[in-house]
Amino acid sequence: MLDRTHDHLPDNVMQELIALRDGTATAPRALAPPFYTDPAVLRVEERVFLSSWLCLGRADAIPNAGDFFTRDVLGEPLIVTRAKDGVRVLSNVCRHRGSRLVEGAGTSSRFTCPYHAWTYGLDGTLVRAPLIEAPTADCNLPVFASENWMGWIFVNLDGTAAPMAEQLADLEPYVRNYHADELRTFDPRAESWGVNWKGLAENFMEGYHLTPVHLKTLHPMTPTRLCEKVPGGAGWTGYKAHFDENFSGRGEVHPDMTEEERRQSMMVWIYPSFVLGLGPNSGTYMSLLPDGVDRVVAHWDTACRDGMKRAEMQKCWDFSAAFNAEDKARLEEMQKGLHSRWATGGPLAPADYEGTIWDFYHWIAPRLLAAV
Ligand code: FES
Repeated sequence: MLDRTHDHLPDNVMQELIALRDGTATAPRALAPPFYTDPAVLRVEERVFLSSWLCLGRADAIPNAGDFFTRDVLGEPLIVTRAKDGVRVLSNVCRHRGSRLVEGAGTSSRFTCPYHAWTYGLDGTLVRAPLIEAPTADCNLPVFASENWMGWIFVNLDGTAAPMAEQLADLEPYVRNYHADELRTFDPRAESWGVNWKGLAENFMEGYHLTPVHLKTLHPMTPTRLCEKVPGGAGWTGYKAHFDENFSGRGEVHPDMTEEERRQSMMVWIYPSFVLGLGPNSGTYMSLLPDGVDRVVAHWDTACRDGMKRAEMQKCWDFSAAFNAEDKARLEEMQKGLHSRWATGGPLAPADYEGTIWDFYHWIAPRLLAAV
């Protein structure tokens, strides 16, 4: 659960965040290790998460009215369901005395509490409370602000976030031809990794490690030397992972895609914790939720272009699982290293390789300072 006490960030982190916010940090460097290891930082970050757009999964995972899945986000149990008129994100907490309503995923025309059988419609309206004459409207389930961005469902728990279209307006030209809204969910998983959530997000979004860590997996396709940062925007950053000239490419692609788009993965970080590698015929994504300062739950999948054969989809997914395993091994070691008394943040590589991390620091610094 969220700790709402006043938090004191470590002095060195505080000074670095102030410099980022005020524009006086000029030489890109990794922030001091407590940024990744101090529980006080995480408590403040959770407040930033509350006011941000957080990805819950793919809309095509719940194609029909009544389909639902559940998620716990920052200690809040949620139901993600498709009502008759679109997706709803509901509280998964009964308004009678607080029982969790449903678990897992499935299809249902109503949600009935297993405790005393209060029953809610797909839009969260209370429709039945046994033996109680006239339950009031405040017994309906809270409905959280949600949006669909290119087929991914996002929630904003406190209802204060600016619309995603506003935050991502300058991202649209980089991704529109991929038609990611047409991708199909394949095999979504939730994995627990022993690393701070930012360590995993940064790793997904920097190309510096591609060659050394993924020599036999990603390097033959997207080597470090071909990474090209794009400017980024208010709510995102990204880079192009261009394909090696010897990489043959992958199957059918959308006819709208340019030659360049057919020969690259567009890497996108929607702040704070959604990362996406959009390839010519698939999109590998992770939605990250902190689970303590040294652990993260990564909801991930490789969603594939509609019409691909299942065997091809499986091949794409297996490839992602292979490089994810390589990253996990490295990142769990890094997290241990960050706890060393002598650990320090070093210079970041040039922008094409680690500039996304520097962008992220500039996004989160003012928000953390405002939330302390
Ligand atoms: Fe749900 Fe009582 S707690 S009906």
